[in-house]
Amino acid sequence: MGVTSPLKGQSHSRSLTRKLLPYVLYALLPIAVFRFYFHPFPFPLSTLDQLPHPNRIILTTSSSSSSSSSSSPPPSSFSREEEIANETPCNYTYGRWVHDKMGPLYNGTTCGTIKEGQNCITHGRPDLGYLYWRWQPSQCNLPRFDPNTFFNLLSNKHIAFVGDSMARNQLESLLCMLATASYPNLVYKNGEDNKFRRWHFASHNITVSVYWSPFLVKGVEKSKTGPDHNELYVDVVDERWGSDLEHIDMVVLSIGHWFLHPAVYYEGGSVLGCHYCPGLNHTEIGFYDVMRKAIKTALKAIIERKSTDGNGIDVFLTSFSPSHFEGEWDKAGACPKTKPYEEGEKMVEGMDADMRSIAIEEMEAAKVNAKQFKGLRLETLDVTKLSLMRPDGHPGPYMYPFPFANGVQEHVQNDCVHWCLPGPIDTWNQIVLEVIRRWSVVSKREE
Ligand SMILES: *[C@@H]1O[C@H](CO)[C@@H](O)[C@H](O)[C@H]1NC(C)=O
Ligand SMILES: *[C@@H]1O[C@H](CO)[C@@H](O)[C@H](O)[C@H]1NC(C)=O
Ligand SMILES: *[C@@H]1O[C@H](CO)[C@@H](O)[C@H](O)[C@H]1NC(C)=O
Ligand SMILES: *[C@@H]1O[C@H](CO)[C@@H](O)[C@H](O)[C@H]1NC(C)=O
Repeated sequence: MGVTSPLKGQSHSRSLTRKLLPYVLYALLPIAVFRFYFHPFPFPLSTLDQLPHPNRIILTTSSSSSSSSSSSPPPSSFSREEEIANETPCNYTYGRWVHDKMGPLYNGTTCGTIKEGQNCITHGRPDLGYLYWRWQPSQCNLPRFDPNTFFNLLSNKHIAFVGDSMARNQLESLLCMLATASYPNLVYKNGEDNKFRRWHFASHNITVSVYWSPFLVKGVEKSKTGPDHNELYVDVVDERWGSDLEHIDMVVLSIGHWFLHPAVYYEGGSVLGCHYCPGLNHTEIGFYDVMRKAIKTALKAIIERKSTDGNGIDVFLTSFSPSHFEGEWDKAGACPKTKPYEEGEKMVEGMDADMRSIAIEEMEAAKVNAKQFKGLRLETLDVTKLSLMRPDGHPGPYMYPFPFANGVQEHVQNDCVHWCLPGPIDTWNQIVLEVIRRWSVVSKREE
């Protein structure tokens, strides 16, 4: 609707109820199941917000390279590349959202790739203040996304986003930013709701694709057909993306919210347990350990398959992206904020903190395994905190066009999980670009 583009998705109003179910679950599960399931246990408080900011380590280039005598040029004459290589890697986890007059690179009409439900501008969201913020890390600056830098670093490469609808959300953000500099051709499309798609930037021979795989491991999604459970095979990688690894040079994994659904888990061919499966004679084991196993299985498959093909791979794992339901999911004002939280107003805690920790811990373990092989680079894209601080960045009722055209109705569906495009999720890709830029500079030096 409104958006006329060759990249536009298929008719989206075909099945309202089918679409709504995930939101029902997102909203009801946290409230009903979660509270019920976790109530007996105190939430472990996150240490993230209580840690002091790490001291900035200032590497004065002349003293750190003292062996090359006093003839080294003053730091001011060093190129940006040299600066990047000499700095301690920036920790983007810490920082704050600051006002930014520049606003986003693209808007809801310049990019044809945005999923309808996340195109808040064309859906009539009236407040646009949420577009004018940028993430200011405490230790460094996060440059504005430069599509040409991305194109130059990744020419002739295939970049894959693998995961759930949050992976798609992040992929579409990247495509929209890249499309401001070069046109992507949609070259492949398959699956209900365009779950598998591939674009090609002919200008730089870059392929960008998205693979639907909400568990990363083999799974059967049943939650669309009723209040039924998913089935997960925690030790078997999902070959819908795994079998393509040979052709993938960089992968962004993004999962989380689908693990909250009821499920039965299998490992080594037998039932491991379940999450919220009343009526079935399985042990309730929650979903944390299962998500951990799924990430482990996925990273193991990547390392095993890419360590032998000689081309290497860059792997990102996006940490958990918190939702911001404050009220009932089907009433106006479910996520009503129009500004970021102030520093200290909100802590990463409870489930958000636990999900984040699992991602970081598994990536750290995988980094150790990958070290013995050449060309495997892994990093957690630690966006939990910066995303938590943006309750204003969700579509809310604007997941549908002009929800209040006939006044405020009793029932209004809200999406307080995904992110408006443009929106805070653009920052995730800014960070990805900075990390690969640093990798490229460092690896050039080592050659
Ligand atoms: C950034 O700091 C946090 C908190 O100490 C830590 O958990 C995280 O691993 C760090 N990230 C990087 C990329 O060093
Ligand atoms: C979107 O961007 C295009 C190109 O920069 C511009 O012509 C158009 O007016 C913008 N639309 C809105 C709604 O800002
Ligand atoms: C384009 O990129 C692909 C990898 O994505 C590569 O296999 C192919 O050789 C490249 N084509 C050219 C003409 O460089
Ligand atoms: C449920 O599982 C337990 C332990 O495996 C078993 O002893 C019991 O017979 C099972 N109950 C039913 C109704 O299958």
